[in-house]
Amino acid sequence: CGIVGILGKADVASRLVEGLARLEYRGYDSAGIAVADGGRVELRRAVGKLDNLRVAVDAHAPRGRVGIGHTRWATYGAATEANAHPHRFGAVTLVHNGIIENHAALRDEVEARGARLTSQTDSEIIAAQLEYLLRRARTLDEAFIALLDKLVGSYALAVVFEGYPDLMFVARNGSPLAIGYGEMEADGSAEMFVGSDALALAPFTGQVSYLEDGDWAVIRPDRVQVFDRAGRGVTRDVVSITGVLPAADKGPWPHFMRKEIEEQPESLARLLGALVDPAAGSLKPILPGIDFASADRIVLIACGTAHYACLLASYWIEEIARLPVEVDIASEYRYRNRPLTGREIVIAVSQSGETADTLSALKALAGRVAARVAVVNVATSSIAREADAILDILAGPEIGVASTKAYSGQAMGLLAIALKAARDRGMLSDDRLGEILADLVSVPRIVAETLCGSDDIERLARRLSPARDMFFLGRGVNHPMALEAALKMKEISYIHAEAYPAGELKHGPIALIDTGTPVVVFENVDDLNEKTASNVAEVAARGADVVRIGPSGACDLVTPAAGPVGSLFANAVVAQLLSYFVALEKGTDVDQPRNLAKSVTVE
Ligand code: G6P
Repeated sequence: CGIVGILGKADVASRLVEGLARLEYRGYDSAGIAVADGGRVELRRAVGKLDNLRVAVDAHAPRGRVGIGHTRWATYGAATEANAHPHRFGAVTLVHNGIIENHAALRDEVEARGARLTSQTDSEIIAAQLEYLLRRARTLDEAFIALLDKLVGSYALAVVFEGYPDLMFVARNGSPLAIGYGEMEADGSAEMFVGSDALALAPFTGQVSYLEDGDWAVIRPDRVQVFDRAGRGVTRDVVSITGVLPAADKGPWPHFMRKEIEEQPESLARLLGALVDPAAGSLKPILPGIDFASADRIVLIACGTAHYACLLASYWIEEIARLPVEVDIASEYRYRNRPLTGREIVIAVSQSGETADTLSALKALAGRVAARVAVVNVATSSIAREADAILDILAGPEIGVASTKAYSGQAMGLLAIALKAARDRGMLSDDRLGEILADLVSVPRIVAETLCGSDDIERLARRLSPARDMFFLGRGVNHPMALEAALKMKEISYIHAEAYPAGELKHGPIALIDTGTPVVVFENVDDLNEKTASNVAEVAARGADVVRIGPSGACDLVTPAAGPVGSLFANAVVAQLLSYFVALEKGTDVDQPRNLAKSVTVE
């Protein structure tokens, strides 16, 4: 979910919607705003995309200088208007991101007092609790502190109150929240903003401070007071976000996903420039302060597509740096209670840098491992700020829910980390480094050449799109590649897709292969192809519609001639375009597929 709030000098309704537009990637089940002008707080809420809210606001814009807005990814309660935020209870109106774990007990308390709740959300319960506390407390502060004491779980909250046109309360615990500072005017007052991330605040201000977990704040036009969990006044640094976030528009492309796929030669070249010095034939210094020489293991944690980038990297790190690697899904790692030696280097990979599962796994490892590294696309994100060192993949804002340029950036960044680890451990000869760098440096060109073959991929997509099920196969690094390809296909075309190591299909899943079932096989320039060929023959003999993708002339879709690294990136681009074109054929919502959100800030 995404939160935005404005304490303005003029009506804020349309600006709230503008801020929400930049947060829609966080959820688009429903959206709403609440605006206060001193009297009653007015709500506008709508189910579905933000456009529906925009229509409602345009038809009858609420007046007022203070307001909050929310775009929802449903957790407790279906995507209905009643469950949409903001939630109003008496004089209290709020938006909430996160999950309140003791919601059932808090709901019982509210209902025992005879109050009637109108939604199934945990968020409305917070409003009802605060309203109750407010009637008993001497001050708003006292009521708010009492409220936070009662809440167990994660939250980012922004609250406005009936009768207070110049005041907003906010709090953060586990879900991100930032305060934006407008320009100070002669009377010492300024417009103030809150948002789930810098992207939402960028249209309004370049000056932002991030709340820490446990912080709460009282925001007025002339004063922001921030308090920590213990109620002590604290200062949170104001940082500049100007220039960090270029305008997020589609350019000439019909979808953000297509634009982001096409941007990869540029985004990867930019990253390469930060990682490699081609003239010197060397790796630039990355991850200052991190030394892999004494590490006994690398632990990679992530979710979704980033997890597949980690799986891919595990092959590279083990092969190049000869260091054991453990890869896990963050939500699993967090609660596995793995034995630790204290010499592990943990790498959390996350495009947004806000994924709650990844963040909490990373936090749980504080002080228990040698170092915690973040590979992120947002250098100011919560995961980046939690880590000891970061590698920014410099992909620029990724708006399409299905990750594309971030995935390739993560893969490239992790390969550079594999090289650094190998060098730190004295495992890398100059010749071997030169060989891998030559392959790596070719990636932007190979990706550009692969993009030129989009017509062939589109034709292939037309052939495959009627399928009910699809299978993706690969060996070695192409196994994670197949997993990522299947995920992309599921996410945006809703076709059931599964991936297996090519050698594993015969041990069970082959029972699912029927006449005409598409089986997409990713190949590389290595000696595994012969083995893969036998697996291909096994499924072809059972009537599968086999599509081989790779650099060999024998493939159905031939990717540009490249080294093993370049070929892998070529396969990634084919997988992205294939799912994109299949989704277009099926007429699904490519950028905002059903049920998904780009940044999931609940565990
Ligand atoms: C969500 C998105 C996925 C993404 C995953 C991890 O589930 O829908 O596309 O891969 O989160 O996101 P992160 O920002 O941590 O890379």
